[in-house]
Amino acid sequence: MEGGVHPGTDVSAFRECFSLTWKNPYVLRLAFSAGIGGLLFGYDTGVISGALLYIRDDFKNVDRETVLQESIVSMAVAGAIIGAAVGGWLNDRFGRRRAILIADFLFFIGAVIMASAPGAPLLIVGRVFVGLGVGMASMTSPLYISEASPAKIRGALVSTNGFLITGGQFLSYLINLAFTKAPGTWRWMLGIAGLPALLQFFLMMSLPESPRWLFRKGREEEAKAILRKIYPAHEVEQEIQDLRESIEAEIREEGSSEKINIIKLLKTKTVRRGLTAGVGLQVFQQFVGINTVMYYSPTIVQLAGFASNQTALLLSLVTAGLNALGSIVSIYFIDRTGRKKLLIISLIGVAASLGVLLWYTRGCPSKYGWLALVGLALYIIFFSPGMGTAPWIVNSEIYPLRFRGVCGGIAATANWISNLIVAQSFLSLTEAIGTSWTFLIFGVISVVALFFVIIYVPETKGLPIEEIEKMLEGRALHYKFWEKQHYDEPKGKNPAV
Ligand code: BGC
Repeated sequence: MEGGVHPGTDVSAFRECFSLTWKNPYVLRLAFSAGIGGLLFGYDTGVISGALLYIRDDFKNVDRETVLQESIVSMAVAGAIIGAAVGGWLNDRFGRRRAILIADFLFFIGAVIMASAPGAPLLIVGRVFVGLGVGMASMTSPLYISEASPAKIRGALVSTNGFLITGGQFLSYLINLAFTKAPGTWRWMLGIAGLPALLQFFLMMSLPESPRWLFRKGREEEAKAILRKIYPAHEVEQEIQDLRESIEAEIREEGSSEKINIIKLLKTKTVRRGLTAGVGLQVFQQFVGINTVMYYSPTIVQLAGFASNQTALLLSLVTAGLNALGSIVSIYFIDRTGRKKLLIISLIGVAASLGVLLWYTRGCPSKYGWLALVGLALYIIFFSPGMGTAPWIVNSEIYPLRFRGVCGGIAATANWISNLIVAQSFLSLTEAIGTSWTFLIFGVISVVALFFVIIYVPETKGLPIEEIEKMLEGRALHYKFWEKQHYDEPKGKNPAV
């Protein structure tokens, strides 16, 4: 078995493995270097709400025309939709590392264009560049980390990317709050993001390509040398053997053709099952309304009766801080409790917190304004460790090696399209049907998402990445979620999923 790790790892095994990783800083270096992509994702999506206030001071036409403001905000998300789609293809064709380097280039160019923009048109162009980088990084960083991680701590290492996303958002809020309205401030706020991109570019130059991608491309010797750095000596040979078997089986089944088309994807049972779980998770992640909180929390706080801008910004910093703390909880629990249980707990909590928000907004007297804040805080605390990180983790591990980039790209594209739909419609929805109906819609979607997870999402905790394909092959839909499910596994193992 790849990595020699058995499913159902216990806590002591986790500790042992984690200390192994600690002693082998190479894997941590890989995870943190790739995770800078997450930091940029969080920073660039978070910084714009604050920067826009200052941009409006400088460019009077932006202040006058809502459509310019909307374009500056949403063109990055539009860029991310394309970046994620192209990134998927780039990942399989040219490798994970090159995709990260290209994303850094886009981040850097975007930052320079924005920092020096003489007016709205170039600012928008810069946002498109940054968006392309964000979309590409959003799916590539978790994939690169996932493929370089020992199975036992794969979830924790990919969660560090989630922590850096939320950390980047927190940092951007902090900067928004700290900066005064001095002219030119927004140029620094947007331009500074070029630095981490540059840093990641150089860090990645000194790191290798994903060993799994190399192996699949027939570059066995290079792959082996990297695997030897990642795995304890006694596990390396088994790991190599498993990778070889999996790739040979794939070539036997499909020929060595590198061409991927959508029919071929959908005809493959394991891919279909993976895509159902992966795309579904990404769409639900957005449709439970997270980015209405991340992008509009100052507005929501003001709806709760806290009027001053300063207070609203400060309270939204607390929200972003709770979000970052929640991703640390994910690092700790994701490989012990498992992806699926964390998702289920997360969704139950999200639905209940939306209930609190709903109750508050249904005409409660404003002396209960604090209840809205409690609802908001609970929402984030429950969202972050499960629905915040697990969709990215599951998507980095659930697809067969040959389709991993393309399928992860499809799911990430679905995430960004959903993000755009929700972010664009939130304010109009609250105006048209009121806040309580809007939260009710998110609440109902969370309950549907809960059933979706119970039925369609398999547990991948502790499973070596190549075993996941076999598990999907033998897995039946899981309606009786209260019973443990078993799958027919070719090697005679029978883990619960
Ligand atoms: C989501 C982002 C969201 C963030 C909140 C991420 O996992 O993909 O859309 O803004 O979590 O921290």
